[in-house]
This record gives sequence, structure tokens and C-alpha cells, in this order.
Amino acid sequence: MNFTAGYLQSSVGKKLIMAISGIILIGFILGHLIGNLQVFSGPEKFNNYAKFLQSLGGLLWVARIFLLGTLLAHIISAVALTKENKAARPIGYQNENTNVASWSSRTMVISGMVIAAFVIYHLLHFTIVVADPELIPLKDNHDIFSMVVIGFQKPIVAASYIVAVGLLCFHLNHAIFSVFQTLGINSSSMDKKIKLFSTALSTLIFLGYASIPVSILLNIVKPQGGM
Ligand code: HEM
Repeated sequence: MNFTAGYLQSSVGKKLIMAISGIILIGFILGHLIGNLQVFSGPEKFNNYAKFLQSLGGLLWVARIFLLGTLLAHIISAVALTKENKAARPIGYQNENTNVASWSSRTMVISGMVIAAFVIYHLLHFTIVVADPELIPLKDNHDIFSMVVIGFQKPIVAASYIVAVGLLCFHLNHAIFSVFQTLGINSSSMDKKIKLFSTALSTLIFLGYASIPVSILLNIVKPQGGM
């Protein structure tokens, strides 16, 4: 085993993989949010944005494969680190100090699993379009705006997205803080500011994503033709 492979398989190496893949995934989440917020600019702008992405052709597939590889690296390292932590502490703490570890840090595995399940559902919903047959003709017509609006007019679907992005925010709150720790950007004087930054960024991401289904449910964003 050479030095690099050995390092990446160590706990520190796995944490580094989690941090780097996490930064890339956060980059996607922010980019996807900015793109989706175009829904507030109306059908033409939103559909042009979707058309632009499709026009990237081969490049889009390179980005998709890179993103999938990044997500897999993130999940595989998370599973391996969790196993290592459990093996090092088979009996568990007698007295878990609930004040030391924040709520979101102790629920990273479960929130991560729910987010992974949401991403699969989301791909079936808007990319492969098999979760809601009503959306198929809209997708075939490249009317992504109507697809999103009609999709979120169903309260149960809109509610499940709001819950999922809420959990994503919860996951990111601890994840962003952890990235700084792993990269060694921490000190007792900086930790408070980093925590504030993590909470502010994850809350903004939640409000941004949740604003889309909420605005559709409240009829602020209406289908084309304005029913
Ligand atoms: C209100 C929230 C969201 C809306 C309205 C939304 C909208 C969309 C739409 C319309 C597509 C399909 C684009 C197309 O095929 O033209 C898409 C794809 C995708 N979304 Fe979302 N999304 C939301 C939240 C999220 C979240 C929170 C994540 C990740 C955690 C995410 C990850 C993805 C991924 C990975 C794809 C596939 C990209 C591709 O295949 O090119 N989305 N989204």
C-alpha cells in the first residue's frame, strides 16, 4: 500500500474525504438553489435556465457522474467512520453528555440517510419523472416551470420537500462547522463565529429551498395561464 492510499484509509484521511466531498456537495446545493430561485422570475426565465443545463449535453453528464462519485465517497467514508467509532466504543458511554455534542451532530447518520432517500425520490419525481404521471407530458414538453408548480400543488408532496430540506439544514448546520474543524480552521476564539456562520448559512439554504413549495402552495407562484 503506498503512502497516499494508506493516508486516505486512516481516520484522518476519511475525515478529509468527508470534508472535501462535503464542500463540493454544498457547492452543488447552493448552485441548485440559485438556479431554482429563478422560478420567481417566471416560466420563461426558469425554462430557459433548464434548457441551458440540457444544452450542456456531454458536459452535464460529466458533472452528474462527478457529483454521484462525490456523493458515494461522502457516504462510504461516513459509514466507515461510524463503524470505526462504534468499534472503538463498543459499550457506549455510561453518561452521554447531551450538552457537549449538539443535537445535529448526534443525528448526522440518521439525517444523512433521510437526505439520501429524499434525493432518490427527488430524482424519480423531477429528473426521471416516474413518481407523478401527471408531470410526464410537461417534462416531455421541456416545461420544467409547470412541472415544478403542478408537482408542488399537491400539499403532501410540498410538505415532504419542506421536511426534507429542514433535515438538510439540520445536517448542514453541523457539517459546515465540521469542515472547519477537519481543515484545522478552529480556535476557542473562532469557534463561536464559525458556529454562527454554519447556522446562518444552513438557515438561508432552508429558507431558500422551502420558499419554493410554500409560494406555490400559497398561490404566489402560479401555473402558466395563472389558474
Ligand atoms: C424546492 C426544492 C427543489 C426544487 C424545486 C428542485 C428542482 C429540481 C428540478 C426541476 C430538477 C430537474 C431538472 C431537469 O431535469 O431539468 C432537479 C434535479 C436535481 N435536484 Fe433538485 N430541487 C429541489 C431541491 C433539491 C435538493 C435539496 C437537492 C439535494 C440535496 C436536490 C438535488 C437534485 C439533483 C441531484 C438533481 C439531478 C440533477 C441532474 O440530473 O442534472 N434538489 N431539481
